[in-house]
Amino acid sequence: MFRTKPIEQSIRDTEEPEYRLRRRLSAVDLAVFGVGVIVGTGIFVLTGQVARDTAGPAVALSFVAAGIVCALAALCYAEFAATVPVAGSAYTYSYATLGEFPAWIIGWDLMLELALGAAVVSVGWSGYFGSLLSSLGVPLPASIAGEDALINLPAMIVVLLLTAILVAGIKLSSRTTLVLVTVKVAVVLLVIVAGLFFIKGANYTPFIPPSEATPGVAGLGAPLIQVIFGVTPTAYGVAGIFSAAAIVFFAFIGFDIVATAAEETKNPQRDMPIGILGSLAICTALYVAVSLVVVGMQPYTQLSTSAPLADAFTAVGQPWLATVISIGAIAGLTTVVLIMMLGQSRVLFAMSRDNLLPRGLAAVHPRFGTPARVTVIIGVVVALLAGFIPLAALAELVNIGTLFAFIVVSAGVVILRRTRPDLPRAFRTPLVPLIPILSVLACLYLMLNLPVETWLRFVVWMLIGVALYFLYGRRHSRVGLEGTSEASPR
Ligand code: ALA
Repeated sequence: MFRTKPIEQSIRDTEEPEYRLRRRLSAVDLAVFGVGVIVGTGIFVLTGQVARDTAGPAVALSFVAAGIVCALAALCYAEFAATVPVAGSAYTYSYATLGEFPAWIIGWDLMLELALGAAVVSVGWSGYFGSLLSSLGVPLPASIAGEDALINLPAMIVVLLLTAILVAGIKLSSRTTLVLVTVKVAVVLLVIVAGLFFIKGANYTPFIPPSEATPGVAGLGAPLIQVIFGVTPTAYGVAGIFSAAAIVFFAFIGFDIVATAAEETKNPQRDMPIGILGSLAICTALYVAVSLVVVGMQPYTQLSTSAPLADAFTAVGQPWLATVISIGAIAGLTTVVLIMMLGQSRVLFAMSRDNLLPRGLAAVHPRFGTPARVTVIIGVVVALLAGFIPLAALAELVNIGTLFAFIVVSAGVVILRRTRPDLPRAFRTPLVPLIPILSVLACLYLMLNLPVETWLRFVVWMLIGVALYFLYGRRHSRVGLEGTSEASPR
């Protein structure tokens, strides 16, 4: 169960012609990928809700806090991605450090971040798409879109179209991404620059509204930390800034997905750290600026929760800017869904190549050079989830799954330094073990702020994963069958 897969073997596996991905991406491609997957629902939707209900105008500080947590984890991801440039990200790193069973568990866990995340964001996409069509005077019938529809057709269609793009090739995907990311970033900059003209200083006072006890959310809806320590959650105040950070964490999810493209990067040793840290830095700057502008445009108590950026412009009498911003949000959410599915396909690809899932799934398409089979399967599953399951409540599962992976990767950096001090590391996480330990603690703190029901769903999902490992992966594992494993580090 704790057999590890030597890093050299992981890298050798990437050279087998039948399972070889094409190395085509540069550092700029990676940064574009990063921004493409990071800027999405978090800034376009959550900002308003969080400023209104939890942090007030200080929401910008919540973005700073969440950004710092992510920067700690990003420093750990950068070392791994530069040292083990193999598709699969946290899954592959765990296989090299912790062993096969933890690796499987992480791969299983990443499905929450990637496949479920893609489904959640595609539902958000459908919402913006519907509201844009309504504003143009052609509303979609309520039966195929919107909250109460039986089937969310726009979400399913966008997922399937993006699946086709992914099958056709990674270079095409990165080109599509480039166009959409340009639109998205232009719109975010437009919000910042145009918004400056509508800021009223009075909206910034009080910047940190005095803290108010929120009536304890009882039962399964209460944050785990509250249940364990009997802490009453508060809104606003300094504590509110940190509770809000746990929510806007969602806005940063994605810099880690850059690491899943390591195997397709021309010079991963140099480009991976630039891609991961660079995209995180760009997004943090954009988020802080956007949130400062938006809370300056409207009193925080009046911000909209469904489309805060667009609605702030409607509120100051600029509805045409609101339409432009909706278009930007649609472009932005499209790339988030695209890259989350890309990341998911690369993780499943790596797991199948190791025989922890049926190996046939890892076959690379002879013409397109992409793992077409897994990509199509993921597309269909994500489309079904997006089309038929109400996902609002499941969005927090995406956060918990991602934070869990961050913890494992951070711990993995420390372990790999001990077990393989000899490996050439083109990028080294500074101040090991301090940074990884802080990263683990910070992620744990955010996880504890999630509701009990999210924890229960998380545990159930992980137990299903454990069962599958013992029913299939353990017996079929390539490392197990070929007997090439190293002794476990423990
Ligand atoms: N960070 C991504 C978003 O905000 C998941 O949509």
